[in-house]
Amino acid sequence: MYTTRTAILLCLIGLVSCFARQAEEAPHVTPAPEVVQELTPPSELALLMRSMAAHADTVKAALGRGEDLPPYPKAFSNLMKAEPTKGMHIDPITFPTFAKDYLDKVDRLYKAKKTDRTRAYNALVQSCANCHGSHCPGPLMRIKKMYVTGSE
Ligand code: HEC
Repeated sequence: MYTTRTAILLCLIGLVSCFARQAEEAPHVTPAPEVVQELTPPSELALLMRSMAAHADTVKAALGRGEDLPPYPKAFSNLMKAEPTKGMHIDPITFPTFAKDYLDKVDRLYKAKKTDRTRAYNALVQSCANCHGSHCPGPLMRIKKMYVTGSE
């Protein structure tokens, strides 16, 4: 009984921190200060995710301006090893599968011909969304806005 309750509590903490961090990122949402103060510093995985999101934003901007891609993000290969937020459920089967797919999509983007880069970029964003569909859904709204659409 005690362990079940602890497990549920840990899951809740994981979820809350996932959502709370997203709120922190969206400037129009003011997070309740008492909630933010209780959060532990971001995990290694959360920090890596921030660089992954920043990298994708940079790629999108570069595509829009017809500029070169940013340097290849070698550090992202740490994705499968980075320590997640305590209590965050990382599925031992699907997480590595989605992580590998994301890393493949990064490779493909850098190997793609210039004319295929937008499609390769959108496939990359799709791989973020795929993993977030089963892990940490908080950032999904943000990820959905990252696609390059025809009208842009
Ligand atoms: C293999 C699964 C996976 C992939 C691929 C993935 N994410 Fe994540 N993401 C996670 C998990 C799990 C967390 C929660 C990390 C934690 O709290 O330790 C997370 C957290 C985040 C966060 C919140 C970080 C914070 O400050 O707490 C953002 C934003 C994010 N991801 C965006 C992205 C973007 C953008 C991509 C693609 C470029 C991406 N993610 C790809 C699993 C994934």
